[in-house]
Amino acid sequence: MINVALPKGRLGEKAYEMMAQSGYDCPSILEKNRKLTFENEELGIRYFWVKPWDVGIYVEHGAADVGICGKDILLENRPDVYELLNLGIGKCRMCVAGPVDFYDDGSRTLRVATKFPNITSDYYEKIGRDIDIIKLNGSIELAPILGLSDVIVDIVETGKTLRENHLTPLRDVVDISARFICNKISFQFKHEEIIKLKTALADLVRTERKELG
Ligand code: PRP
Repeated sequence: MINVALPKGRLGEKAYEMMAQSGYDCPSILEKNRKLTFENEELGIRYFWVKPWDVGIYVEHGAADVGICGKDILLENRPDVYELLNLGIGKCRMCVAGPVDFYDDGSRTLRVATKFPNITSDYYEKIGRDIDIIKLNGSIELAPILGLSDVIVDIVETGKTLRENHLTPLRDVVDISARFICNKISFQFKHEEIIKLKTALADLVRTERKELG
């Protein structure tokens, strides 16, 4: 049996679709109820719905053999897992954003609000800029509007949230997409099943990429 941690929400639903198309469907997962685990015994697969930020924790500790997790969360939390495949879904970018008229003259420590303090400090260390990090848990766009920070480091997908709050992307930090990750011990002991699943997913990613041209 392979145990799969799926991130609850839109990304998880897309990820499950990919699993199903790769030959690992589990029809009971589509029933509208509040169950968190679903199993297709015949195919030897069990799914769990977990909070997106927790996927890496389940996989690192072996409670799940594999999982689907955003690269943003992997870069931020650095779970000790293998990253086996870029699934090409959940694409967005991590950006520095701020008020449209923002100009950093470098004269004082920059105040940066974010849900991603590790990614943020790595980025500013690389470019050699002193910052103070203000760690928030959501609605990051509010921080520069209320004067809590100068800029933010956050996910930009369509750019709508920034635009509607009179903010704009200032610098790209890193491209993000969903990754197929694996527990290191499971990779040894369930090697054949996991490689079979990874190969099926990789074939699907390739086909979809070709179709997109
Ligand atoms: C994310 C992110 C931005 C928004 C970007 O927020 O933090 O606020 O999506 O998407 P857009 O470019 O398509 O507008 P999320 O919905 O995860 O909520 P959060 O405020 O809790 O971070």
